[in-house]
Amino acid sequence: MKPDPTRPAQANNVAEPSPEAISRAVELLRQGHVIGMPTETVYGLAGDGLNPAALGRIFEVKQRPLFDPLILHFADAAAAFDVAEQIPTSARELAQRFWPGPLTLVLPKKEMVPHLATSGLPNVAVRVPAHPVAQALLRAFKGPLAAPSANRFGRISPTDAQAVRTELGDGVPLILDGGACAVGLESTVLFLADPEPVLLRAGGISLEEIEAVIGPVRHAAPVEDRPQSPGQLRHHYAPRKPLRLVRSMGEIPSRTDVGWLAFGTQTDSFLGRVENISPTGDFREAAANFFRALRSLDDDPRVTELYATVLPAQGLGLAINERLERAAS
Ligand code: TXA
Ligand code: MG
Repeated sequence: MKPDPTRPAQANNVAEPSPEAISRAVELLRQGHVIGMPTETVYGLAGDGLNPAALGRIFEVKQRPLFDPLILHFADAAAAFDVAEQIPTSARELAQRFWPGPLTLVLPKKEMVPHLATSGLPNVAVRVPAHPVAQALLRAFKGPLAAPSANRFGRISPTDAQAVRTELGDGVPLILDGGACAVGLESTVLFLADPEPVLLRAGGISLEEIEAVIGPVRHAAPVEDRPQSPGQLRHHYAPRKPLRLVRSMGEIPSRTDVGWLAFGTQTDSFLGRVENISPTGDFREAAANFFRALRSLDDDPRVTELYATVLPAQGLGLAINERLERAAS
């Protein structure tokens, strides 16, 4: 069911992550239902990763095209590598360094992984999330959970339980409330199924951090429609209002109905509404605030047009810029 915007959200499917709520979540997942799961990156729409009916339900609730494959989440690296046919040394080194955490590795899949999870691709994306509620759920469920970000396809990713509620309404029976996501950007997706590693999506672990462990990584360019590696769709993270990218406040019209997603700058003299994602210019803070701030400006009825400051192109700044460019396209 789609959320009804004319009715106030009744958060009766949002639950504190008590042991009882985790048990209820496991029960629902075993029955093939999908639920809202907090992770340290963004909230996920989780379903049994080995149950094709549950996988189908994820695509249906998200209104996601079947050609865009899902990430499988595991409690630990041993479980994650168990669904991969080959595990290169680079994957083991990265897992050792960054798991649990915001890194997804794409590896050749074993037969047991359903085609629906990988959209028919020969490779599977695997990740070990760090959030304690995701960890508790995975340990109690004792199997992989497929989980895309819990937004409708193409929309802004949710970084708290209320945003999941806004995106999916009663479309899910349960949303576990794990608070605001500490990282705030999706995981970095790294393709390791060929000898040359390729960055498919910049994310919570920076390219520099990855290259420090495994050496040079090629950065895949976004493509327009049906991509070879689906994570590269250009139009994504879209607000409802028009969004333009700027380098400075001087490029933004001086009007009260303008919203500005600012970063590390003086904003006092601005006439419109400002969300400064990090007044001190800190990338981690900016990442943690990014989707919440974008959503808040997009939802503000006084704001008709959005502007966002482009970040310096390094570290997590690259990952935020990649999302800004897609949100503005
Ligand atoms: O941080 C995250 O990764 C969050 C949380 C919930 O874990 N999940 C997430 O999932 O962002 P999703 O579905 O919104 O994005 C997964 C990305 C997509 O861009 C998808 O195309 C790519 O990973 N992907 C998944 N499986 C792949 C595969 N086999 N080959 C290439 N890309 C793949
Ligand atoms: Mg997503």
